[in-house]
Amino acid sequence: MPTLGPSLLFAAGLTLGVGAGVLYPRKSPSSPIPNVQLPPPPPEGGQHDSRALVPTAGGSAVLSHGFPGPIPDILKRTAYTAAYDRRLQHPAWTAEHLTATSLARTPPPSSPGTNPVPLDQARKGDTAGSGDKVVVKGDRSKSVFMEDEGIPEMFRAKLRDYFRSGYDRGHMVPAADAKISQQAMNETFYLSNIAPQVGDGFNRHYWAYLEDFCRRLTTNFEDVYVFTVPLYLPAKQADGKWRVSYEVIGNPPSISVPTHFAKVILASRPDFSYPQRPSSNPNYPSSSSSDTIKELAMGAFVLPNKEIPDQADLRSFVVPVEHVEKAAGLQLFNEQVKGKSKQLCAVTQCQVIVRRFDDARKSIGKK
Ligand SMILES: *[C@@H]1O[C@H](CO)[C@@H](O)[C@H](O)[C@H]1NC(C)=O
Repeated sequence: MPTLGPSLLFAAGLTLGVGAGVLYPRKSPSSPIPNVQLPPPPPEGGQHDSRALVPTAGGSAVLSHGFPGPIPDILKRTAYTAAYDRRLQHPAWTAEHLTATSLARTPPPSSPGTNPVPLDQARKGDTAGSGDKVVVKGDRSKSVFMEDEGIPEMFRAKLRDYFRSGYDRGHMVPAADAKISQQAMNETFYLSNIAPQVGDGFNRHYWAYLEDFCRRLTTNFEDVYVFTVPLYLPAKQADGKWRVSYEVIGNPPSISVPTHFAKVILASRPDFSYPQRPSSNPNYPSSSSSDTIKELAMGAFVLPNKEIPDQADLRSFVVPVEHVEKAAGLQLFNEQVKGKSKQLCAVTQCQVIVRRFDDARKSIGKK
């Protein structure tokens, strides 16, 4: 029977997400890996300067003047972890763990002995508007976009690159997912968490609806893990060949504009079809207990970075997780987790809630 703790799941996902995790041994003295050219440990941005030349391990004459990279800047923030792509100058991926608590929403039913939630009721929960009375600590209006000093200057996305580019500074980890503190929210405004997104019809609309969908999943799942991944997908041209075509913004051109964005979601909750063991710790009735049998659900959505009509069916953007992984060169979740996961849209209603607040505001402004 599958017994997987949520933190374990995410740890596995992250380890794989970082890629060659085994190639970056963390200062563990007793882990000799013979005959392997060791790249430097990934620098953790936001704190120290990662410009220092890295000595190469293992006596490679070829690289005796230093390891050239690629170096993924691993950014560990309050509300998320991300890897920055120095060549594209936006995140390679961002990862978040959303819970009702982290979003200050009503938690899903989870105590042992709770009856399974009937599907229609669960679906109602999925599509219910937020309506939360949340003690929100992070206030978006108090945050400003910032360049990330932790990224070496020559690779750092700059505010001026976005200025008059015609693109929005699109959050990969949404500010609304980081309301636990002002600092957490501020950290989502680092340009190392930002990629250029079409504003109207995408960043301000359909993409925002998808972000909201991810948050609403916490109504029915205890743990929601979200990877956000910018993608560069080839398109078939008139001559029958496939090419990747994308804009690069800034002067000189610096920040690449992804053709697509993916959200890959792993959601877990107690599997009510198994009798749940009462938790040994009365303070934590069941939710985070690692011996709870979990139902896992996984879904990947790939959206083009362009205006998407409000009426578009969210399910029309569903792709196999492997498609995202292959296109991005990432392993987001291991085979074991994938094998145990149900299709997200089979166990919950994959539907966005259309919100056109900005338009309402605009029309008010006109009058
Ligand atoms: C958040 O950012 C704003 C604007 O830069 C700043 O005034 C404020 O001190 C920051 N708050 C925290 C907690 O970092």
